Amino acid sequence: MRKYLIAGNWKMHKTVKEAKEFFENFLRKLKEKTVDREIMIAPPFTCLFACAEAVKGTPVSLGAQNACWEPKGAFTGEISPEMLKEFEVKYVIIGHSERRHIFGETDEIINKRVKGVFSAGLVPVLCVGETLEEREAGKTFDVVKTQLEEGLRGISGVSGETLVIAYEPVWAIGTGKTATPLQAQEVHQFIREKLKELFGEVADSIRILYGGSVKPENAGSILEQPDIDGVLVGGASLDPEKFYDIYTAGT
Ligand code: PGA
Repeated sequence: MRKYLIAGNWKMHKTVKEAKEFFENFLRKLKEKTVDREIMIAPPFTCLFACAEAVKGTPVSLGAQNACWEPKGAFTGEISPEMLKEFEVKYVIIGHSERRHIFGETDEIINKRVKGVFSAGLVPVLCVGETLEEREAGKTFDVVKTQLEEGLRGISGVSGETLVIAYEPVWAIGTGKTATPLQAQEVHQFIREKLKELFGEVADSIRILYGGSVKPENAGSILEQPDIDGVLVGGASLDPEKFYDIYTAGT
């Protein structure tokens, strides 16, 4: 059984004060009612210390939005998995489309990051997804296949506890356009088959999240799909009410 993972990616949003306010409100709602789903929030690095304090003893895990592959060294602007561990970080988002398309991260760099995070004992959340142009040219499966094969090259011994994949069609991120639940399911099923080729039957225990304009209104129908095991939420994760409603959607 795969336990749903409801993940928030705050991107470059929230000061420490705003992060504390979020958790005051969100944790108040969680006290009223929890459901059997895992929760992860990936704040900016600058908020990790305050967020680690806030989530202590709660069901919320922390994520980071990127990480370097080396434990330390001359890598200006980077943060290592070892540093993230100081803040009880469990998950690290790698290969987000904004890293790929705005900052030019290649599959090769992404693979280094995945390996570094994985070998440090943190859980990579590897993001894959096609652009609108690629979808319209009928290349969705090819793009996703390459991103998976290249991103996971050299990784072995994975389990449902140590790897997460997120399918985020680039055309659906921050645009208000969501893939229909069936469009998403089709790609999720393809990803699971690919994971089976790479890792064998353990693929059935690996969670595959959907991301791209997830909101309280569409989360329920997305989560109903057989190969969708959670969501990676950007915009709507900034609002404690909305993120809570996504967490409980369909329950
Ligand atoms: P969005 O972002 O929910 O704002 O579309 C999703 C993501 O980029 O992870």
